[in-house]
Amino acid sequence: MIPGTQLDGVALVVGSGRGIGQQAAFSLAEAGARAIVFADMNEETATASAEESKQYATNKEYQATAFKVNVTDEKGVQDMVDFVVKQFGRIDYAVNGAGVDNGVHAPIADTDIEGFDRIMTINARGMLLCVRAEAAAMRKQEPRTFTSRNGVRDIGRGAIVNVASANSSVGLPGKGSYTISKHACLGLTKMAGLDHSPEGIRCNAVCPTWVRTPLLDIELEKNPEVRDAITAIVPIKRAAECEEVSEAITFLLSPAASYINGTSLILDAGVTTSVRVFRTN
Ligand SMILES: NC(=O)c1ccc[n+]([C@@H]2O[C@H](COP(=O)([O-])OP(=O)(O)OC[C@H]3O[C@@H](n4cnc5c(N)ncnc54)[C@H](O)[C@@H]3O)[C@@H](O)[C@H]2O)c1
Repeated sequence: MIPGTQLDGVALVVGSGRGIGQQAAFSLAEAGARAIVFADMNEETATASAEESKQYATNKEYQATAFKVNVTDEKGVQDMVDFVVKQFGRIDYAVNGAGVDNGVHAPIADTDIEGFDRIMTINARGMLLCVRAEAAAMRKQEPRTFTSRNGVRDIGRGAIVNVASANSSVGLPGKGSYTISKHACLGLTKMAGLDHSPEGIRCNAVCPTWVRTPLLDIELEKNPEVRDAITAIVPIKRAAECEEVSEAITFLLSPAASYINGTSLILDAGVTTSVRVFRTN
């Protein structure tokens, strides 16, 4: 194991009742987190995930608890962050994985504005509320250091990872509202990294294409041709396994990534490296 990927702090994972957020929390537990708050609008799945995480935890003092939050609720988001600080003293790692794909396929000229407002309220404004409250809490806490074979280095007060999308940097025909909301996630990530790194807070994003989560299963059921699209478009011909995303998130939060800030890790097996005008294989 790379020594700098070992964790020992407190995590808040938003959207951890299911999917990428849940898997990120499980990976953080495996990596040694001392405590994890599983926050989600679905209290039942958040509680079940918190319970399940105990079987993956490697820290002897591990604690897990659930918190009900809707990221569109400004006060609720602040209450969530206050809860973590009150309960566990600080927030070392925050993951913002609550988000939706509205499933709409329409060209920009046919954009439904109510739908646009809804997805922006969850994916963009909701993520801003989370990052804002997390960064405000992190800047009040003491910075930490990490000791490696070359000595001691400052690793700051806390780290944040936003779950964005490959659609944060490229488009997909007919996915305007989702793509705009995910571009906003990347803009937010860059700004938080820029504004708060002098205070010892890093903020990065992961940008996956297709990940084998319940959300993808629902999409495949509604739209079976997505399976063919994945085989045709993804160079390694499959969706990402959850761990291929959750372990990247864990890395970005760890001391090993202490010099990575305000950027994104595209997790797409190379999909966005090419203009796929025609198939070559
Ligand atoms: N699954 C993929 O293939 C994939 C690929 C790229 C990007 N993404 C993006 O990653 C994010 C997470 O995707 P996922 O596959 O884990 O989805 P998911 O639906 O499996 O999980 C999302 C979780 O967030 C919670 N949530 C949703 N809205 C919320 C709100 N307003 N407040 C609090 N919690 C809320 C849900 O209850 C759920 O537990 C989404 O923004 C999605 O667009 C997913």
